Amino acid sequence: MIKLSAKSITQLMKILIFGSGGREHALAWKIAQSPLVDEVYSAPGNPGMDKIGPCFELDPTDLKAVQELALQLMPDLIIIGPEAPLAAGASDALRARGFDVFAPSQAAAKLETSKGFAKDLMEKYGVPTAAYGRFDDLTKALEFLETMEAPYVIKADGLAAGKGVVIAENLEDAENTVEEMMTGKFGDASSEIVIEEFMEGEEASVFVMTDGEGAIYLPVAQDHKRVGDGDTGPNTGGMGAYAPAPVVDARTMELVQTTIVEPMLSGMAEDGMPYQGVLYVGIMVTEQGPKVVEFNARFGDPECQVLMAGLPGDIVPALLVCATGGLAGSHAGLCEMMGLSDFRPGAVVVMAANGYPGTAEKGTVINGVDKADAIDGVTVFHAGTDINEQKELVAAGGRVLGVTATDADLKVAISKAYEAVELIDWPGGFCRTDIGYRVTR
Ligand code: AMP
Ligand code: GLY
Repeated sequence: MIKLSAKSITQLMKILIFGSGGREHALAWKIAQSPLVDEVYSAPGNPGMDKIGPCFELDPTDLKAVQELALQLMPDLIIIGPEAPLAAGASDALRARGFDVFAPSQAAAKLETSKGFAKDLMEKYGVPTAAYGRFDDLTKALEFLETMEAPYVIKADGLAAGKGVVIAENLEDAENTVEEMMTGKFGDASSEIVIEEFMEGEEASVFVMTDGEGAIYLPVAQDHKRVGDGDTGPNTGGMGAYAPAPVVDARTMELVQTTIVEPMLSGMAEDGMPYQGVLYVGIMVTEQGPKVVEFNARFGDPECQVLMAGLPGDIVPALLVCATGGLAGSHAGLCEMMGLSDFRPGAVVVMAANGYPGTAEKGTVINGVDKADAIDGVTVFHAGTDINEQKELVAAGGRVLGVTATDADLKVAISKAYEAVELIDWPGGFCRTDIGYRVTR
C-alpha cells in the first residue's frame, strides 16, 4: 500500500525545483507529466523549464531568498537539484519551515562536500573504496606520498567545480600537485587533501532514491567526463551518458547494494545524519568487485536526463515518499508506479559552447531545437541557454543542451540522439561524437 499524505490525494500538487541545469529541466519535464501534479515551479530555471511552469529568478544558495520563495508559493514538495544549495544548508532551512524536501541535509551532503569525511565514513562502515590518507599538514602529506605507488590520486577535500582531482603519473608531479593544492590552489577547498590508491577498472554511476532507510535503485548509467572523443582532453561536468550500463551486471549490483549502499544508509542513520534524497554512488568495477570512487549528494548531470527520459511511469510518489518517509513499506508499489521494470534504454549527447570546459563563448544563436525535439523518442533538455532581445535562443553557459533519446534498443537510442544533434544548427557549439562507444563499438 502506498501512503501518500491526504493533502496530495485530495488536491493536485505544486512542486518547486531549485536549479537551472539539464538535470533540473529533465526533473521538471518528468514531474510535469504526473497526474498528481498541476504546477511545476523552477528557481531560477532556464528557458526549457520556463515552458513547463513559472520560473523565479534567484540564487539557490541565498537561503533567505530560497525560504521567501517557498513561503510565497507554498509547494507540496521541494526538490533541490545541485550541490551548492545543499552545502549552504538550503534543505535544512526549508525543512525547518515545515516543507517536504527531496534532498539530503547539509550534514548528510557532506558525503559530497568533504571527500575526507566520505572516506572516513566508508572506513568506519567497512565500505570498499581505495586506501587513503587525509592531510591538513604538507610535510605529512609528502611523507605519505613516498609510501604510495604511481599513479598517485590526489583530491582537494572540498568542492572544486569538478577540478579537484589530479592523477599524477610520477612522484615529482604528485609532490608538486600536493604542494599547490595545500598552499591555496582552490582556497579553503584544498587546504585539506585526500591521497588515495589508484583503482583499475571501469566507472559507472549508481543512483539510489532513499528516505534514509529504504532504497530504490535506478538503472545504472555511465557518464563521459572528458571533453574529447576517446576520453581525451580535460575533465568536464559530463559530455554525455547512457543507461543501462552493461558493465554493472546483476552480481555487481548485488554487491553495490550489500557492501556499499546498505552499510552507508544504516550507518548514517545510526550516526544521526540519515541520508534522504538521491545518493549518487560513483563506482569503479574492479577485479575485486565494485569500489566507491566518490559520492555525490544529488542526481548526476547529464545522467539524470537519461533516467528521467527512460522512466515510463510516475516518479512523483517516490519523490514524495523519499522526502516524507515510509519507503520500505511502499517500495514495490512505488517502483511499479515509476515503471522501473519497463525502463527504456537511452542516451544523452551534451552540446557545449565552444571553449568549454575553459571559457565558454556566450551569446551564439542556436536554431533547430524544435526540429530535433520533434523526432519520436527525442527530448532536448536545456542547461546554459537564454533568450536574447531578438527572442532567439542563445548559449549562456558551458554545457548548453542535452539531446536525449530513448528506444527499446540502446544502440538505436544512441543513433537517434545523433540524428537529432544533426538537426541543431549551432556553429557556436560542439559535442562528442562517440557517446556510448562502449556499447556501439
Ligand atoms: P571524483 O571527483 O572523485 O569522481 O574523481 C574524478 C575522476 O577521477 C573519477 O571519475 C575517476 O575517473 C578518477 N578517479 C578518482 N579517484 C580515483 C581512484 N582512486 N582511482 C582511479 N581513478 C580515480
Ligand atoms: N555527471 C557527473 C556529475 O554530475 O557529477
